[in-house]
Amino acid sequence: MKKVAVITGGASGIGLAIAKRFIAGSIKVIIVGRDIARLKAACRTLGENSDFFSCDLADLHAIPAMVQTIIDRHGRIDILVNNAGINLKKPMLEVTDDEYQKIILTNQTSAFCISRAVAGIMKEQEEGCILNISSMASIYGLPNVIAYTASKAAVEGMTRSMAVELAPLGIRVNCIAPGFIRTNMSSVALDNDPGRKNRVLARTPMGRLGKPEEVAGAAYFLVSEEASFITGVVLPVDGGNSIGF
Ligand code: NAI
Repeated sequence: MKKVAVITGGASGIGLAIAKRFIAGSIKVIIVGRDIARLKAACRTLGENSDFFSCDLADLHAIPAMVQTIIDRHGRIDILVNNAGINLKKPMLEVTDDEYQKIILTNQTSAFCISRAVAGIMKEQEEGCILNISSMASIYGLPNVIAYTASKAAVEGMTRSMAVELAPLGIRVNCIAPGFIRTNMSSVALDNDPGRKNRVLARTPMGRLGKPEEVAGAAYFLVSEEASFITGVVLPVDGGNSIGF
């Protein structure tokens, strides 16, 4: 029987690359996002072992029903990848409370909410894997992304707390901290800010942006049996950015 993975934000960028890698590894994938046309297009690319569910994860009340519908259709959830995320690049003094809350809600609270619902199912199955996606922003002080930074630092703390609490239930919880990966999100943040882009490249020993597929390879490892004794880790996939001089 194929394993079933739910990947939030799976219609683009890193999430889509993870979906492709999982399918190549014989895992059935359900991608979750807001844009039905984009989800359908992604599923056409992914093929018959994919399905999608349209949901705005910022609407927390919709999450339990979404998880139940996935269970009704696919029978189980073995893997959850909390990948959906949004960024807001703005000086801290100009960020409104509503803007701040929206980022925290999307990047962190919704990940908690869906993890709680899915962990309940994994508890019954007596096994499962949750993989969160944080960011270099949680490691060092990146200016002009205050809410994003707070949300991603919270994702890493939540990873450790969940890992400890869910380990006795047979559930492993890990996190990938991607460095700067070439996607729409990073293009928006870097392409019109050459100073920032140069700084990123200068402190990345490998001297380039990463590819979504490079994050996907690490994701596949962390949810596989090869990682059966690994829980609670935050794995940088960053070309050395986090230790760059
Ligand atoms: P992306 O913008 O292509 O992907 C984000 C996905 O999340 C999109 O498919 C979007 O529709 C979905 N999403 C956003 N808000 C949502 C909501 N309320 N409900 C449902 N889906 C929602 O960007 P990328 O780069 O692939 O980002 C994926 C993850 O990787 C994000 O969590 C991001 O913070 C993280 N990341 C990306 C880095 C990069 O350099 N690209 C670096 C570090 C972390």
